[in-house]
Amino acid sequence: MASTSKSIALSIVFLLYLISCASSQRETTFLNHGFLEANLLKFGSSKVYPSGLLELTNTSMRQMGQAFHGFPIPFLNPNSSLISFSTSFVFAITRGPGAPGHGFAFVISPLMDFSKALPSNYLGLFNSSNNGKSLNQILAVEFDTVQAVEMNDIDDNHVGIDLNGVVSIESAPAAYFDNREAKNISLRLASGDPIRAWIEYNATEMMLNVTLAPLERSKPNLPLLSRKLNLSGILSEEHFVGFSASTGTVTSSHFVLGWSFNIEGKALDFDITKLPSLPDPPSPPSPSLSPPVSEKTNTNNTKLIIIVAVAASATVAIMILILLGFWFFSGRQVFFTGGARKFSYQTISSATGGFNSSKLMGERNSGSFYKGQLAPTEIIAVKRITCTTRQQKTTLIAEIDVISKIRQKNLVNVLGYCSKRNEVYIVYEYIPNGSLDRFLFNNDRPVLTWSDRFCIIKGIASAIQYLHNDGQKPLVHGNVKASNVLLDEDLNSRLGDYGQGSSTGHVAPELVETGKVTCDTDVYAFGVLMMEIVCGRKAIEPTKPPREISLVNWVLQGFKEGDLLQRCDSRMTRGELVAREVLLVLKTGLLCANRSHEARPMMKKVLQFLDGAEPLPHDDYLFYGV
Ligand SMILES: *[C@@H]1O[C@H](CO)[C@@H](O)[C@H](O)[C@H]1NC(C)=O
Ligand SMILES: *[C@@H]1O[C@H](CO)[C@@H](O)[C@H](O)[C@H]1NC(C)=O
Ligand SMILES: *[C@@H]1O[C@H](CO)[C@@H](O)[C@H](O)[C@H]1NC(C)=O
Ligand SMILES: *[C@@H]1O[C@H](CO)[C@@H](O)[C@H](O)[C@H]1NC(C)=O
Ligand SMILES: *[C@@H]1O[C@H](CO)[C@@H](O)[C@H](O)[C@H]1NC(C)=O
Ligand SMILES: *[C@@H]1O[C@H](CO)[C@@H](O)[C@H](O)[C@H]1NC(C)=O
Ligand SMILES: *[C@@H]1O[C@H](CO)[C@@H](O)[C@H](O)[C@H]1NC(C)=O
Repeated sequence: MASTSKSIALSIVFLLYLISCASSQRETTFLNHGFLEANLLKFGSSKVYPSGLLELTNTSMRQMGQAFHGFPIPFLNPNSSLISFSTSFVFAITRGPGAPGHGFAFVISPLMDFSKALPSNYLGLFNSSNNGKSLNQILAVEFDTVQAVEMNDIDDNHVGIDLNGVVSIESAPAAYFDNREAKNISLRLASGDPIRAWIEYNATEMMLNVTLAPLERSKPNLPLLSRKLNLSGILSEEHFVGFSASTGTVTSSHFVLGWSFNIEGKALDFDITKLPSLPDPPSPPSPSLSPPVSEKTNTNNTKLIIIVAVAASATVAIMILILLGFWFFSGRQVFFTGGARKFSYQTISSATGGFNSSKLMGERNSGSFYKGQLAPTEIIAVKRITCTTRQQKTTLIAEIDVISKIRQKNLVNVLGYCSKRNEVYIVYEYIPNGSLDRFLFNNDRPVLTWSDRFCIIKGIASAIQYLHNDGQKPLVHGNVKASNVLLDEDLNSRLGDYGQGSSTGHVAPELVETGKVTCDTDVYAFGVLMMEIVCGRKAIEPTKPPREISLVNWVLQGFKEGDLLQRCDSRMTRGELVAREVLLVLKTGLLCANRSHEARPMMKKVLQFLDGAEPLPHDDYLFYGV
């Protein structure tokens, strides 16, 4: 009897001891320089390096990792009023061999179990069944490096506020406000450099602010995102705070170097010198600073040529791989005339003025491409791919050899390549009028007439049809979108794979889930592209009224209301529109953009619809599944 009460007493003492330990650790204010001594719970692919660096994912595909502060935070007072909070953290996204992906998020969640979530666009936080559901009670701030059109992403380098799902309620391209110059400066999330973010919520004002800046800068005076938000329905007395990141077919390492958190007050500031350092990046590309060498070129080609220099883009690399694979087994006649034309590095370097910044034609997450002059009448640009292994380089060159054999009047020709150390430069044919997106979405080019547009659409269709090869062993393009369509001097369309950005273009629903490009996903992307061309607007325009944000939905509404002609680009005159052709294109677009891939027509059929060789199915079919 006595011994029992003694043991009960002991266990009560022990329990009290445990509780007091727990509550002393239940801090609502913490400052971690590295995470060696942090109270951190790790899930999925997360790990902490001996230096204290937290890695949420490495550059393997389809990983997801989370890490949470070990104790819940009371975001509501005992009288159920919201509490202000402030957090700051330093993160870095370093990309793998190709384009970066998919991103990283700061998360406030009632649960820490995300084992049922999906990687890729879902950032390891949601899956297709719970995405957007208010039961989730999750607030996240995403740092997203892939444009998922079906998630309404604005670009492939943005910051967004997410409530209960990955479709952001507010987002902006990554940038910070420079206090001294009083202007916004854009920032590349996946640059590999540490970036500091501040997320602050004032419960009185119900304002959530998100601010970011390179680590070495002081805090900008103005936030990037500022949004009035009643978080009463989301937060509770016990929500967990932490991070999540994921990769897909494009990958990055997602790191957190330090984390500071506080409620009812400002988060403490970091001592930058105490933060762990990042692992050494894989040997950086060696920028060529060599002066232009005037070297006689071994060609009489008087055609204009561009060399596009683009750093490795996984999307493109994967696409090329697929191209290659299918090509080899297609059984079609391939004329091997001894490989693609090989350019010397000096030729390409001198053509681009040593990759001079004045020759830079564009730059995105996936890299930069240059225009250059090879000879008085010959211009070049290099798509620069940095290979991480010898094997990758060998494979890539073999692929270029194959691709350079593909010739079709609506495809951009690959002329050859050059390789130096771990870099490969792909040389393309120059197409003088630039890319279609500038004609459609910018006002700095002449307005395309209806007959131009119809002709461009049919050109793209025949290029894709050629690749798909009438449904025999097909070549998948994998990145059909306006910025990959170039226009020649007569405004004929030329489909290329300049691999700008890591946007996967207009992504079919099944592609989000499987990450696999197929002929069906090409057809979907082409369907959306047709609508963009007719309507002169992008697939997703978040600033439009809700029913117009998604172009596909808006066109579908127009179809149901018998009002399709009203959807045309208003810059075209009504007189020039050929109603029969406009309806044909938009209805074909709706067929192609069917959510169910089995319901989409094959490219050969699409071309027959557009050529009038085959009648469209009855209108009733268009209602299904778009
Ligand atoms: C990523 O981590 C996993 C599990 O630790 C490992 O198997 C894989 O090799 C790693 N990938 C890279 C690219 O380091
Ligand atoms: C209860 O809510 C009010 C605001 O509505 C706040 O001022 C007060 O501090 C809260 N009480 C406690 C105990 O936190
Ligand atoms: C989605 O996630 C929720 C919450 O983790 C889980 O209950 C559900 O089973 C998941 N659904 C699927 C289809 O995986
Ligand atoms: C900077 O960006 C913010 C957020 O996108 C915007 O509201 C503001 O007008 C911009 N300021 C300047 C000076 O461009
Ligand atoms: C958010 O930013 C706005 C605009 O700069 C500022 O007035 C407000 O005080 C900020 N609120 C918080 C909680 O930081
Ligand atoms: C929230 O805003 C109110 C009113 O602007 C201000 O008095 C208060 O200090 C702010 N609270 C925090 C925690 O910043
Ligand atoms: C915030 O939302 C809660 C319910 O979710 C509601 O009771 C409350 O009145 C709202 N507060 C404001 C200021 O709108």
